[in-house]
Amino acid sequence: MHSTIHRDNGQLLMEKVCLQSIADKFGTPCYVYSKTALELNYKAYANALKSHPHLVCYAVKSNSNIAVLQSLAKLGSGFDIVSIGELERVLIAGGNPSKIVFSGLGKTADEMSRALDVGIHCFNVESESELSLLNRIAEQKGLKAPVSIRVNPDVNAKTHPYISTGLKEDKFGIDINRAIDVYRDAASMSHIDIVGLDCHIGSQITEKSPFVDTMKRLLVLADTLNEQGITLNHLDIGGGLGVRYQNEEIQSVDQYMRAILPLLEGRSETLIVEPGRSMTANAGVLLTEVVYLKVTEHKNFAVVDAAMNDMLRPSLYQAWMDVQNVGTHVNQQEKIYDVVGPVCESGDFLAKSRQLTVNEGDCLCLFSAGAYGFVMSSNYNSRPRVAEIMVNGDSAFVIRQRETLAELIKGEHLLPEQ
Ligand code: LLP
Repeated sequence: MHSTIHRDNGQLLMEKVCLQSIADKFGTPCYVYSKTALELNYKAYANALKSHPHLVCYAVKSNSNIAVLQSLAKLGSGFDIVSIGELERVLIAGGNPSKIVFSGLGKTADEMSRALDVGIHCFNVESESELSLLNRIAEQKGLKAPVSIRVNPDVNAKTHPYISTGLKEDKFGIDINRAIDVYRDAASMSHIDIVGLDCHIGSQITEKSPFVDTMKRLLVLADTLNEQGITLNHLDIGGGLGVRYQNEEIQSVDQYMRAILPLLEGRSETLIVEPGRSMTANAGVLLTEVVYLKVTEHKNFAVVDAAMNDMLRPSLYQAWMDVQNVGTHVNQQEKIYDVVGPVCESGDFLAKSRQLTVNEGDCLCLFSAGAYGFVMSSNYNSRPRVAEIMVNGDSAFVIRQRETLAELIKGEHLLPEQ
């Protein structure tokens, strides 16, 4: 979970680029990602897994910009996708279709068809209905669909309820106790090829034990299947490794893998991982300008030009993300501020009760914003989507232009005059 941000002479830099200069050149709000940090994060997984056959499938949903995908594809990364949109992005970015796993519990016939055509590594199947539809579509094409069943191992990931997915009451996967029946069904289908076993128990997991418990349960199931003549080529433990937003005690990728890999000793199944947040969160920031300082009897507000539509995590999950001034003010008093956006909702805030030394016109940096940031943004309040910038060494590139007002209403139509 590398970050390439540091302060030099009072100024925040990403790699060798001063963040204030990015705000000046490209405007705010904007997301800024570090290519070096992304690459280091990918390599941390690849290195930690090198003693065992493995495939790192980056979870595209955490940041799907095609330049991000391209940077990872160049290193040989695979991809975990959840829609045809993500599939097309990976293909455009030069990703290898045979390293794509397709997750998600509501795949449509069109999505299955396209994924079969391009030859993905496997479908992570979440229900019997999905399995039958996939079998039918593969039959129409005269193909065999590679399938991994996503089981729900009933493990508590000890994370925010909205991002916990491995409990019995969650909508995801197939109850691990019923999985054998579903595998038997799958084995009897003429156009299904069983290749693996899959799970994903949640996100922002800070302990090793839920992963270890999950892997143990997967192995018991894999052995039982084996006894019944169903052999698996891979085991997929999903994503979910947490990152440090504030002061969380985080497992490094290496520590995490050192807890998992001994369980696989002597086994031939390839280990697939689907990391999202741990690849992108700390590789990115959101820059936003302070439009007004609003001091009331009860509170000080720093009203900034980014809002919940640009970064939803604080509003939706009460997520804490660090905020700092990209520059520094000497001899000026620090005050406690709520950093809020211009959207007409009280839930529109980026940070609450933060000590900041700040003037109107200053640029603030919201840290760890590379994952689930831009991808969750919307046009709420008719706000155009912000720009995305990629830093590499001492260069900065626009990897997505700021949306224009014309693009905002593109595709909308007035009714004909009566
Ligand atoms: N694989 C599957 C099947 C997933 O559903 C997810 C994330 C991942 C992998 C990647 O998990 P990660 O390594 O990023 O934890 N929007 C929320 C996070 C939602 C995660 C959804 N699934 C947030 O901002 O905290």
